[in-house]
Amino acid sequence: MRKIIIAGNWKMYKTQAEALEFVQTFKSKVDNTNESREIVLCAPFTTLGAMSKNLHGSRIRLGAQNIHWEDAGAYTGEIAGPMLTEIGVNYVIIGHSERRQYFGETDETVNLRLLAAQKHGLIPILCVGESKSQRDAGETEKIIINQLKRDLVDVDQNNLVIAYEPIWAIGTGDTCESTEANRVIGLIREQLTNKNVPIQYGGSVKPNNIDEIMKQSEIDGALVGGASLDPADFASIVNYQ
Ligand code: PGA
Repeated sequence: MRKIIIAGNWKMYKTQAEALEFVQTFKSKVDNTNESREIVLCAPFTTLGAMSKNLHGSRIRLGAQNIHWEDAGAYTGEIAGPMLTEIGVNYVIIGHSERRQYFGETDETVNLRLLAAQKHGLIPILCVGESKSQRDAGETEKIIINQLKRDLVDVDQNNLVIAYEPIWAIGTGDTCESTEANRVIGLIREQLTNKNVPIQYGGSVKPNNIDEIMKQSEIDGALVGGASLDPADFASIVNYQ
């Protein structure tokens, strides 16, 4: 059985006070959420310590949005695995298209970060996806197969989540048709040695399209940006039918 994982990606939103306010409202809304669904909040580094204390004993898991490949060192602005595990972080997003696009992240650094996450017992959420121009040029399959090949060198597929995030669907309100997302996610699964890796869809997931997305046979959850910032919206996503 493949695990269902619904993760919120807060990106660079929420101060510590705002994060705690979210948690207070959100917690009670997921009390009765089906046990089989893993709920994750990938929050900014400055909020993780306080959130971890607040979420203690709850079923909500905590995620970070990046990890460096060294355990410590002269890497200004980066974060190391032991800093995350010490405060109870369980997941980490790696290779998000915003990191690849704006911060020079490459398949090689994505691979190093994946290996580091696993070394520290964190579950990486690896993001892959094509841009609009790549899709229009008919290169979607090639791009994704290449990303997977390079990103997953020596990565343990028993401790991994993948998110298919077509770049043109992120933050645009322009969701990928759920059947098309299902097709690409099926293709991603074909590339894996472990067929039970949970594969999420991400890109403009909202309360009004989550049911349709989760009906698809290959889709094991969602990585949610904008709609995860509001506790009521994210709770209705997590509590999809
Ligand atoms: P979005 O972001 O839901 O706001 O489109 C998804 C993501 O970037 O992970």
